[in-house]
Amino acid sequence: MEQKLLDIATEYGSPIYVYNADTIIKQYQRLTNAFKDVPSLKLNYAVKALSNISVLKLFKTLESGLDTVSLQEVLLGLKAGFDPSAIIYTPNGVSLEEIEEVAALGVQINIDNLAILEQFGSKHPHIPVCIRINPHVMAGGNTNISVGHIDSKFGISIHQIPHLLRIVDNTGMRINGIHMHTGSDILDIDVFLYASEILFETAAHFKDLEFTDFGSGFKVPYKDGDIETDIEELGQKLSLRFNSFCKDYGKDLTLAFEPGKFLVSEAGVFLTKVNSVKQTTSTVFAQVDSGFNHLIRPMLYGSQHEILNVSNPTGKERFYSVVGYICETDTFANNRRIAEIREGDVLCFKNAGAYCFSMASNYNSRYRPAEVLIYNGESHLIRKRESFEDLVQNQIEIPL
Ligand SMILES: Cc1ncc(COP(=O)(O)O)c(C=O)c1O
Repeated sequence: MEQKLLDIATEYGSPIYVYNADTIIKQYQRLTNAFKDVPSLKLNYAVKALSNISVLKLFKTLESGLDTVSLQEVLLGLKAGFDPSAIIYTPNGVSLEEIEEVAALGVQINIDNLAILEQFGSKHPHIPVCIRINPHVMAGGNTNISVGHIDSKFGISIHQIPHLLRIVDNTGMRINGIHMHTGSDILDIDVFLYASEILFETAAHFKDLEFTDFGSGFKVPYKDGDIETDIEELGQKLSLRFNSFCKDYGKDLTLAFEPGKFLVSEAGVFLTKVNSVKQTTSTVFAQVDSGFNHLIRPMLYGSQHEILNVSNPTGKERFYSVVGYICETDTFANNRRIAEIREGDVLCFKNAGAYCFSMASNYNSRYRPAEVLIYNGESHLIRKRESFEDLVQNQIEIPL
Protein backbone atom coordinates (compact mmCIF):
# COMPACT_ATOMS: atom_id res chain seq x y z
CA MET A 1 0.00 0.00 0.00
CA GLU A 2 2.88 2.40 0.81
CA GLN A 3 4.13 2.21 -2.78
CA LYS A 4 0.66 2.84 -4.17
CA LEU A 5 0.28 5.94 -2.00
CA LEU A 6 3.73 7.18 -3.04
CA ASP A 7 2.79 6.65 -6.69
CA ILE A 8 -0.40 8.67 -6.19
CA ALA A 9 1.55 11.50 -4.51
CA THR A 10 4.03 11.45 -7.41
CA GLU A 11 1.34 11.36 -10.10
CA TYR A 12 -1.08 13.95 -8.68
CA GLY A 13 1.15 15.94 -6.34
CA SER A 14 0.87 16.74 -2.67
CA PRO A 15 -0.95 17.41 -0.43
CA ILE A 16 -3.71 15.06 -1.49
CA TYR A 17 -6.63 13.11 -0.05
CA VAL A 18 -6.95 9.45 -1.06
CA TYR A 19 -10.08 7.36 -0.39
CA ASN A 20 -10.47 3.62 -0.73
CA ALA A 21 -13.89 2.56 -2.02
CA ASP A 22 -13.43 -0.99 -0.71
CA THR A 23 -13.25 0.28 2.88
CA ILE A 24 -16.42 2.35 2.43
CA ILE A 25 -18.24 -0.67 0.99
CA LYS A 26 -16.96 -2.92 3.80
CA GLN A 27 -18.18 -0.50 6.50
CA TYR A 28 -21.55 -0.08 4.78
CA GLN A 29 -22.01 -3.84 4.64
CA ARG A 30 -20.87 -4.24 8.23
CA LEU A 31 -23.54 -1.85 9.47
CA THR A 32 -26.21 -3.40 7.25
CA ASN A 33 -25.29 -6.81 8.52
CA ALA A 34 -25.38 -5.74 12.17
CA PHE A 35 -29.05 -4.77 11.67
CA LYS A 36 -30.07 -7.67 9.44
CA ASP A 37 -32.83 -8.64 11.92
CA VAL A 38 -34.94 -5.52 11.41
CA PRO A 39 -37.51 -5.81 8.60
CA SER A 40 -36.57 -2.46 7.08
CA LEU A 41 -33.25 -0.65 7.51
CA LYS A 42 -32.27 2.61 5.85
CA LEU A 43 -28.76 4.04 5.98
CA ASN A 44 -28.58 7.69 5.02
CA TYR A 45 -24.93 8.61 4.54
CA ALA A 46 -24.15 11.97 6.24
CA VAL A 47 -22.94 14.03 3.29
CA LYS A 48 -21.19 16.57 5.50
CA ALA A 49 -18.48 14.04 6.33
CA LEU A 50 -17.21 13.87 2.75
CA SER A 51 -19.26 15.37 -0.03
CA ASN A 52 -17.37 14.63 -3.24
CA ILE A 53 -19.90 13.71 -5.93
CA SER A 54 -18.03 10.52 -6.90
CA VAL A 55 -18.20 9.37 -3.29
CA LEU A 56 -21.93 10.11 -3.24
CA LYS A 57 -22.30 8.09 -6.43
CA LEU A 58 -20.51 5.21 -4.75
CA PHE A 59 -23.10 5.35 -1.95
CA LYS A 60 -25.84 5.30 -4.56
CA THR A 61 -24.50 2.01 -5.93
CA LEU A 62 -24.87 0.63 -2.38
CA GLU A 63 -28.53 1.77 -2.28
CA SER A 64 -27.76 4.17 0.53
CA GLY A 65 -29.85 7.27 1.13
CA LEU A 66 -28.35 10.65 2.09
CA ASP A 67 -28.52 12.77 5.20
CA THR A 68 -28.09 16.45 4.37
CA VAL A 69 -27.94 19.68 6.37
CA SER A 70 -28.05 22.35 3.67
CA LEU A 71 -29.74 23.08 0.37
CA GLN A 72 -26.33 22.78 -1.25
CA GLU A 73 -25.80 19.24 0.09
CA VAL A 74 -29.24 18.35 -1.27
CA LEU A 75 -28.25 19.72 -4.69
CA LEU A 76 -25.04 17.69 -4.62
CA GLY A 77 -27.06 14.56 -3.83
CA LEU A 78 -29.45 15.24 -6.71
CA LYS A 79 -26.51 15.87 -9.02
CA ALA A 80 -25.07 12.52 -7.94
CA GLY A 81 -28.31 10.89 -9.15
CA PHE A 82 -30.20 10.35 -5.89
CA ASP A 83 -33.96 10.44 -5.98
CA PRO A 84 -35.27 13.24 -3.71
CA SER A 85 -37.18 10.60 -1.72
CA ALA A 86 -33.82 9.02 -0.77
CA ILE A 87 -32.65 12.24 0.88
CA ILE A 88 -33.42 13.52 4.36
CA TYR A 89 -32.69 17.15 5.23
CA THR A 90 -31.88 17.91 8.87
CA PRO A 91 -31.03 21.60 9.12
CA ASN A 92 -30.47 23.63 12.24
CA GLY A 93 -31.04 27.35 12.45
CA VAL A 94 -31.80 27.84 8.75
CA SER A 95 -34.54 30.05 7.33
CA LEU A 96 -38.07 28.86 6.61
CA GLU A 97 -37.42 29.83 2.97
CA GLU A 98 -34.55 27.33 2.67
CA ILE A 99 -36.68 24.57 4.22
CA GLU A 100 -39.49 25.34 1.77
CA GLU A 101 -37.07 25.29 -1.14
CA VAL A 102 -35.80 21.86 -0.13
CA ALA A 103 -39.34 20.56 0.51
CA ALA A 104 -40.37 21.70 -2.98
CA LEU A 105 -37.69 19.36 -4.36
CA GLY A 106 -39.48 16.39 -2.76
CA VAL A 107 -36.87 15.77 -0.05
CA GLN A 108 -37.87 14.46 3.42
CA ILE A 109 -37.84 17.40 5.84
CA ASN A 110 -36.68 17.01 9.42
CA ILE A 111 -37.54 19.94 11.72
CA ASP A 112 -35.92 20.65 15.09
CA ASN A 113 -37.61 23.88 16.13
CA LEU A 114 -41.20 24.46 17.28
CA ALA A 115 -41.52 27.94 15.76
CA ILE A 116 -40.43 26.68 12.34
CA LEU A 117 -42.65 23.61 12.70
CA GLU A 118 -45.67 25.80 13.33
CA GLN A 119 -44.93 28.07 10.37
CA PHE A 120 -44.14 25.17 8.03
CA GLY A 121 -47.17 23.14 9.15
CA SER A 122 -49.52 26.11 8.74
CA LYS A 123 -48.35 26.76 5.19
CA HIS A 124 -47.80 23.16 4.03
CA PRO A 125 -50.01 20.83 6.08
CA HIS A 126 -49.92 18.24 3.29
CA ILE A 127 -46.10 17.76 3.44
CA PRO A 128 -45.15 15.06 5.96
CA VAL A 129 -42.40 16.07 8.35
CA CYS A 130 -39.96 14.25 10.60
CA ILE A 131 -39.26 15.69 14.06
CA ARG A 132 -35.79 15.89 15.58
CA ILE A 133 -36.07 15.54 19.32
CA ASN A 134 -33.53 16.51 21.92
CA PRO A 135 -33.48 13.52 24.30
CA HIS A 136 -31.36 15.38 26.88
CA VAL A 137 -28.60 12.83 26.91
CA MET A 138 -24.98 13.87 27.39
CA ALA A 139 -23.04 11.87 24.83
CA GLY A 140 -20.19 12.41 22.40
CA GLY A 141 -16.41 12.54 22.22
CA ASN A 142 -16.11 16.22 23.19
CA THR A 143 -18.35 19.19 23.91
CA ASN A 144 -18.37 20.46 20.30
CA ILE A 145 -19.84 17.20 19.07
CA SER A 146 -22.18 16.46 21.98
CA VAL A 147 -25.45 17.72 20.61
CA GLY A 148 -28.29 15.98 22.45
CA HIS A 149 -27.91 17.49 25.92
CA ILE A 150 -30.07 20.06 27.68
CA ASP A 151 -27.96 23.09 26.72
CA SER A 152 -27.67 22.08 23.08
CA LYS A 153 -29.23 24.17 20.29
CA PHE A 154 -30.31 21.01 18.46
CA GLY A 155 -33.67 19.29 18.52
CA ILE A 156 -37.04 19.86 20.17
CA SER A 157 -36.90 19.17 23.87
CA ILE A 158 -38.76 16.07 25.00
CA HIS A 159 -40.29 18.36 27.63
CA GLN A 160 -42.02 20.27 24.80
CA ILE A 161 -43.94 17.28 23.43
CA PRO A 162 -47.35 18.61 24.60
CA HIS A 163 -46.69 21.87 22.73
CA LEU A 164 -45.49 19.90 19.69
CA LEU A 165 -48.65 17.80 19.69
CA ARG A 166 -50.79 20.94 19.85
CA ILE A 167 -49.02 22.34 16.78
CA VAL A 168 -49.59 19.09 14.90
CA ASP A 169 -53.27 19.10 15.87
CA ASN A 170 -53.83 22.75 15.06
CA THR A 171 -52.14 22.64 11.65
CA GLY A 172 -53.35 19.19 10.60
CA MET A 173 -49.83 18.28 9.51
CA ARG A 174 -48.56 14.70 9.47
CA ILE A 175 -45.47 13.55 11.36
CA ASN A 176 -43.93 10.59 9.53
CA GLY A 177 -40.64 10.20 11.40
CA ILE A 178 -38.98 10.77 14.75
CA HIS A 179 -35.28 11.49 14.78
CA MET A 180 -32.46 12.06 17.26
CA HIS A 181 -28.72 12.49 16.99
CA THR A 182 -26.99 12.73 20.33
CA GLY A 183 -23.40 13.35 19.25
CA SER A 184 -20.34 11.98 17.55
CA ASP A 185 -17.74 9.55 18.89
CA ILE A 186 -20.08 7.85 21.35
CA LEU A 187 -18.36 4.91 22.90
CA ASP A 188 -20.89 3.36 25.16
CA ILE A 189 -23.73 1.49 23.46
CA ASP A 190 -25.77 1.76 26.65
CA VAL A 191 -25.97 5.50 25.93
CA PHE A 192 -27.51 4.69 22.55
CA LEU A 193 -29.91 2.22 24.08
CA TYR A 194 -30.90 4.65 26.83
CA ALA A 195 -31.54 7.46 24.33
CA SER A 196 -33.43 5.00 22.12
CA GLU A 197 -35.91 4.38 24.92
CA ILE A 198 -36.62 8.11 24.98
CA LEU A 199 -37.11 8.08 21.23
CA PHE A 200 -39.52 5.13 21.46
CA GLU A 201 -41.48 6.88 24.22
CA THR A 202 -41.78 9.98 22.05
CA ALA A 203 -42.63 8.00 18.92
CA ALA A 204 -45.59 6.37 20.66
CA HIS A 205 -47.35 9.78 20.63
CA PHE A 206 -47.49 9.84 16.82
CA LYS A 207 -49.78 7.52 14.91
CA ASP A 208 -48.61 8.00 11.30
CA LEU A 209 -44.93 7.20 11.57
CA GLU A 210 -43.05 5.49 8.76
CA PHE A 211 -39.57 5.55 10.30
CA THR A 212 -37.56 6.27 13.41
CA ASP A 213 -34.08 7.68 12.85
CA PHE A 214 -31.38 7.11 15.46
CA GLY A 215 -28.86 9.51 13.94
CA SER A 216 -25.29 8.39 14.28
CA GLY A 217 -22.20 9.06 16.35
CA PHE A 218 -20.45 5.69 16.16
CA LYS A 219 -16.87 5.88 17.37
CA VAL A 220 -14.25 4.56 14.96
CA PRO A 221 -10.72 3.43 15.91
CA TYR A 222 -7.88 5.88 15.24
CA LYS A 223 -5.10 3.38 15.75
CA ASP A 224 -4.54 -0.33 16.34
CA GLY A 225 -6.26 -1.44 19.52
CA ASP A 226 -8.27 1.79 19.84
CA ILE A 227 -11.74 1.50 21.33
CA GLU A 228 -14.68 1.66 18.92
CA THR A 229 -18.46 1.38 19.13
CA ASP A 230 -19.35 -2.31 19.17
CA ILE A 231 -21.65 -2.07 16.19
CA GLU A 232 -22.50 -5.77 16.18
CA GLU A 233 -23.62 -5.73 19.81
CA LEU A 234 -25.57 -2.51 19.25
CA GLY A 235 -27.18 -4.09 16.17
CA GLN A 236 -28.26 -7.13 18.11
CA LYS A 237 -29.65 -5.24 21.12
CA LEU A 238 -31.28 -2.33 19.31
CA SER A 239 -32.84 -4.57 16.62
CA LEU A 240 -34.50 -6.67 19.30
CA ARG A 241 -35.85 -3.62 21.07
CA PHE A 242 -36.90 -1.94 17.80
CA ASN A 243 -38.82 -5.00 16.67
CA SER A 244 -40.67 -5.19 19.97
CA PHE A 245 -41.48 -1.47 19.71
CA CYS A 246 -42.91 -2.00 16.19
CA LYS A 247 -45.07 -4.83 17.52
CA ASP A 248 -46.51 -2.57 20.22
CA TYR A 249 -46.88 0.26 17.71
CA GLY A 250 -48.83 -2.06 15.43
CA LYS A 251 -46.77 -1.46 12.30
CA ASP A 252 -43.33 -2.29 10.90
CA LEU A 253 -41.41 0.95 10.72
CA THR A 254 -38.08 1.62 9.02
CA LEU A 255 -35.08 1.92 11.29
CA ALA A 256 -32.84 4.67 9.93
CA PHE A 257 -29.27 5.78 10.71
CA GLU A 258 -27.18 8.57 9.24
CA PRO A 259 -23.54 7.68 9.73
CA GLY A 260 -20.69 9.78 8.46
CA LYS A 261 -17.51 8.85 10.28
CA PHE A 262 -18.31 5.15 10.53
CA LEU A 263 -18.63 4.89 6.75
CA VAL A 264 -15.77 7.06 5.52
CA SER A 265 -13.28 7.94 8.27
CA GLU A 266 -11.01 4.93 7.92
CA ALA A 267 -11.40 4.90 4.13
CA GLY A 268 -9.40 8.09 3.74
CA VAL A 269 -5.77 9.12 4.14
CA PHE A 270 -4.13 12.49 3.69
CA LEU A 271 -0.69 12.62 2.08
CA THR A 272 1.65 15.54 2.71
CA LYS A 273 5.28 16.09 1.80
CA VAL A 274 7.88 17.15 4.35
CA ASN A 275 9.29 20.55 3.43
CA SER A 276 11.88 20.57 6.18
CA VAL A 277 12.99 18.91 9.36
CA LYS A 278 13.79 21.57 11.92
CA GLN A 279 15.66 20.79 15.09
CA THR A 280 15.08 23.31 17.88
CA THR A 281 16.46 23.28 21.39
CA SER A 282 13.53 21.19 22.57
CA THR A 283 11.85 19.48 19.63
CA VAL A 284 12.29 18.06 16.16
CA PHE A 285 9.64 19.57 13.90
CA ALA A 286 8.60 17.90 10.67
CA GLN A 287 7.19 20.79 8.64
CA VAL A 288 4.83 19.64 5.93
CA ASP A 289 3.34 21.25 2.81
CA SER A 290 -0.09 21.66 4.42
CA GLY A 291 -1.74 23.04 7.52
CA PHE A 292 -5.00 23.31 9.42
CA ASN A 293 -6.45 24.92 6.31
CA HIS A 294 -6.52 21.39 4.84
CA LEU A 295 -7.05 19.27 7.94
CA ILE A 296 -8.40 21.20 10.88
CA ARG A 297 -9.50 18.38 13.17
CA PRO A 298 -6.35 18.20 15.35
CA MET A 299 -6.53 21.96 16.05
CA LEU A 300 -10.33 22.08 16.31
CA TYR A 301 -11.10 18.91 18.22
CA GLY A 302 -7.70 17.72 19.42
CA SER A 303 -8.16 14.65 17.24
CA GLN A 304 -5.17 12.38 16.98
CA HIS A 305 -4.61 11.15 13.46
CA GLU A 306 -2.02 8.40 13.26
CA ILE A 307 0.89 9.48 11.03
CA LEU A 308 3.06 7.09 9.03
CA ASN A 309 6.15 7.86 7.00
CA VAL A 310 5.33 6.01 3.79
CA SER A 311 8.66 7.01 2.20
CA ASN A 312 10.65 5.32 4.96
CA PRO A 313 8.32 2.81 6.67
CA THR A 314 11.11 0.71 8.13
CA GLY A 315 13.22 3.67 9.29
CA LYS A 316 14.31 3.89 12.92
CA GLU A 317 11.58 5.53 14.96
CA ARG A 318 12.19 8.97 16.47
CA PHE A 319 9.99 11.57 18.16
CA TYR A 320 8.59 14.40 16.05
CA SER A 321 6.14 17.24 16.23
CA VAL A 322 4.41 17.38 12.88
CA VAL A 323 3.38 20.93 12.02
CA GLY A 324 1.86 22.82 9.13
CA TYR A 325 2.81 25.99 7.27
CA ILE A 326 0.00 28.26 8.49
CA CYS A 327 1.24 31.42 10.20
CA GLU A 328 -0.13 30.64 13.63
CA THR A 329 0.08 27.58 15.82
CA ASP A 330 -0.66 24.76 13.44
CA THR A 331 0.11 21.44 15.03
CA PHE A 332 -0.97 18.12 13.57
CA ALA A 333 0.76 15.97 16.18
CA ASN A 334 2.98 16.53 19.17
CA ASN A 335 5.83 14.32 20.22
CA ARG A 336 4.88 11.39 17.99
CA ARG A 337 6.97 8.29 17.34
CA ILE A 338 7.38 8.11 13.57
CA ALA A 339 9.88 6.26 11.34
CA GLU A 340 12.80 8.61 10.65
CA ILE A 341 11.62 11.60 8.64
CA ARG A 342 13.80 13.18 5.95
CA GLU A 343 13.18 16.21 3.76
CA GLY A 344 10.92 15.25 0.85
CA ASP A 345 9.38 12.23 2.60
CA VAL A 346 5.65 11.66 2.20
CA LEU A 347 3.66 11.39 5.42
CA CYS A 348 0.32 9.63 5.55
CA PHE A 349 -2.35 10.81 8.01
CA LYS A 350 -4.88 8.10 8.73
CA ASN A 351 -8.63 8.44 9.37
CA ALA A 352 -8.78 11.32 6.94
CA GLY A 353 -12.01 10.38 5.18
CA ALA A 354 -14.49 12.15 7.45
CA TYR A 355 -14.62 15.89 8.22
CA CYS A 356 -11.24 16.53 6.64
CA PHE A 357 -11.54 17.68 3.04
CA SER A 358 -15.10 18.82 3.75
CA MET A 359 -13.75 21.24 6.39
CA ALA A 360 -10.82 22.46 4.26
CA SER A 361 -10.48 26.16 3.48
CA ASN A 362 -8.32 28.57 1.53
CA TYR A 363 -6.85 30.20 4.63
CA ASN A 364 -3.48 31.82 3.89
CA SER A 365 -4.69 31.85 0.26
CA ARG A 366 -3.58 28.28 -0.23
CA TYR A 367 -5.25 25.97 -2.73
CA ARG A 368 -7.44 23.19 -1.44
CA PRO A 369 -5.94 19.75 -2.18
CA ALA A 370 -6.84 17.24 -4.86
CA GLU A 371 -8.84 14.08 -4.07
CA VAL A 372 -8.38 10.57 -5.42
CA LEU A 373 -10.72 7.58 -5.13
CA ILE A 374 -9.31 4.07 -5.41
CA TYR A 375 -12.13 2.11 -7.00
CA ASN A 376 -11.76 -1.45 -8.31
CA GLY A 377 -8.04 -1.19 -7.62
CA GLU A 378 -7.63 1.85 -9.92
CA SER A 379 -6.85 5.39 -8.77
CA HIS A 380 -9.25 8.02 -10.08
CA LEU A 381 -8.74 11.74 -9.67
CA ILE A 382 -12.10 12.96 -8.32
CA ARG A 383 -11.15 16.58 -7.63
CA LYS A 384 -8.40 18.67 -9.16
CA ARG A 385 -6.13 20.69 -6.94
CA GLU A 386 -7.29 24.30 -6.97
CA SER A 387 -5.47 26.92 -8.97
CA PHE A 388 -4.90 30.65 -8.70
CA GLU A 389 -7.93 31.17 -11.00
CA ASP A 390 -10.12 29.34 -8.44
CA LEU A 391 -8.87 31.67 -5.71
CA VAL A 392 -9.77 34.84 -7.57
CA GLN A 393 -12.71 33.81 -9.74
CA ASN A 394 -15.40 35.35 -7.49
CA GLN A 395 -13.47 38.42 -6.50
CA ILE A 396 -14.40 41.71 -8.09
CA GLU A 397 -11.68 44.30 -8.46
CA ILE A 398 -12.86 47.86 -8.21
CA PRO A 399 -10.93 50.68 -9.82
CA LEU A 400 -8.84 52.37 -7.11
C1 LIG B 1 -27.68 15.30 12.47
C2 LIG B 1 -26.43 14.52 12.23
N1 LIG B 1 -26.53 13.28 11.74
C3 LIG B 1 -25.43 12.54 11.47
C4 LIG B 1 -24.16 13.01 11.71
C5 LIG B 1 -22.98 12.14 11.42
O1 LIG B 1 -22.30 11.80 12.56
P1 LIG B 1 -21.02 10.85 12.52
O2 LIG B 1 -20.08 11.40 11.51
O3 LIG B 1 -20.48 10.87 13.89
O4 LIG B 1 -21.49 9.51 12.10
C6 LIG B 1 -24.01 14.29 12.27
C7 LIG B 1 -22.68 14.81 12.57
O5 LIG B 1 -22.42 15.89 12.95
C8 LIG B 1 -25.18 15.06 12.52
O6 LIG B 1 -25.09 16.30 13.04
